[in-house]
Amino acid sequence: MERTRWYKDRVFYQIWPRSFMDGNGDGMGDLWGVLEKLDYIKSLGCGGIWFSPLYPSPGADCGYDIADYMDIAPEFGGMEAFRQVLEGAHARDMKVLMDLVINHTSDEHEWFQKSRRRIEPYTDYYIWRPAKKNGKLPNNWDSNFEGKAWTYDQVRGEYYLHLFAVKQPDLNMDNPLVREEVKKILRFWLDLGVDGFREDVITYISKPEGLPDDHLFPVNKGMGQYNHGPRLHEYLREFKQDVLDHYDCMTLAEAPLVSPRKALTYINEDSGELDMMIQFQCVCADCLFTDWLPLPFSLRKLKRAFSTWQRKLHGRAWNMLYLENHDHPRIVSRYGSERFREESAKTLAAAMLFQQGTPFLYQGQELGMTNCPLESIDEYRDVQTIWNYHHSALKKSPEERLARLHRSSRDNSRTPVQWSGEPNAGFTTGTPWIRVNPNYTQINAAEQETREDSVLNFYRRAIALRKSLSCVRDGDYREYRHLSGSHYLYSRDDGKQRILVVCSFRDRETAFRAPRGFNLEKAELVLANYPTPQPDTLQPYECRVYLWK
Ligand code: NOJ
Repeated sequence: MERTRWYKDRVFYQIWPRSFMDGNGDGMGDLWGVLEKLDYIKSLGCGGIWFSPLYPSPGADCGYDIADYMDIAPEFGGMEAFRQVLEGAHARDMKVLMDLVINHTSDEHEWFQKSRRRIEPYTDYYIWRPAKKNGKLPNNWDSNFEGKAWTYDQVRGEYYLHLFAVKQPDLNMDNPLVREEVKKILRFWLDLGVDGFREDVITYISKPEGLPDDHLFPVNKGMGQYNHGPRLHEYLREFKQDVLDHYDCMTLAEAPLVSPRKALTYINEDSGELDMMIQFQCVCADCLFTDWLPLPFSLRKLKRAFSTWQRKLHGRAWNMLYLENHDHPRIVSRYGSERFREESAKTLAAAMLFQQGTPFLYQGQELGMTNCPLESIDEYRDVQTIWNYHHSALKKSPEERLARLHRSSRDNSRTPVQWSGEPNAGFTTGTPWIRVNPNYTQINAAEQETREDSVLNFYRRAIALRKSLSCVRDGDYREYRHLSGSHYLYSRDDGKQRILVVCSFRDRETAFRAPRGFNLEKAELVLANYPTPQPDTLQPYECRVYLWK
């Protein structure tokens, strides 16, 4: 089947179901809530939704621990509600992506329950190893969430590998039966009408022969061995040839620690096995590889990340653009300013939305939602956060450890979407499963609907503008003054039209002059976040888009 690459003309919206909208009053988001909000998502100009996992799951990692791949959890509304959402999305010309989590399952999945009892054909569905003779673990790998990557199972009498939580055993992708299961899952959802997949940590699925110790990585040991493992390309090709090529669908692959060069081996448009990659450089401008190793925000680092990916993929592969998702704290609190919240939220939108690629917004980003200061460890819900609080290298006072969580925890972006100033931000009539950010009385969608200059309406205008400009889809990208620690300036040019995007990341006024060759007097100012822009000054976090045609 011909692949039409429809994703190139769309903006996506990510729904993290637990915190999006509660339709039945049990305190947790669900698909009935999504049904109520489909028009809202469409009103942003979005042409697609990525759903974080909706499958039955014990919830050890908020759904990324799947107990049944071919069903929808009853608490989210079950298959019936999903069919309605799918139909409702398609009726509004919105595509639907499912999260495909095949590196691991839940330990409550039937496959694991049978594997630990050596019931065929499941015995080798997971990665089992006896302890070493000296009683040591099978190797020195760390899990990404909870200590070491091996847990002893009393039932089987062996260790199993889990690169994430203890309740997330890794599948053995070298077993052809497991790959057949993956293909069944892909076909099941595609036949039901979904349009593609976001593939969770897909670069981890092929482990090297013999599972050798990792002597390369000082922390997160193992990454140097299992990331981009030896048979990864082969497995991805198999999934593509046997299933994906038979549908006009798309794949978006999560890829920790990937360079543009490496990414091109997977997503180049001639022979790549995948369509787009989630790279992490754009969310590492204020940390060292992970949010848990924070550094001061560096605009230069952010610009380098943006520009490198723009330049290296242009004409060869397609970028996925994002600044937020459910795994990182809120971007206004990180790269912007809570003091200039509205201005900086808009500047961040302009910085991203006119680049080449497919943008993904995360729920609440369009409102400029901020991090949420939870008051005690008991209020946090995320497995990684809770483990880090109790065990990690942050051996400091409880107050200092909480301050770190406030900065680094994923729960910052997992508090409920702030729909209105009503109790619980209009998210639920019940008791929310996680605390609502108390700033919902000021920051909420209902209030922003009433104001032309709100962050929400800025997103709508920016997305509509993006869609109207041919140069944004295909034009050349150029960055100016890349050494500036205050401004991000870039142009897009397709020979017919040209835009210049100007973004200030300073919380004070700064002097501004257009780069050579850009005569502002001949340009039309098509987007701005201040009412009366001055020719030679930028206000705090000011942004502008100029157009020449
Ligand atoms: C990446 C997902 O985005 C994250 O939320 C999850 O915890 C891990 N993969 C494990 O599935």
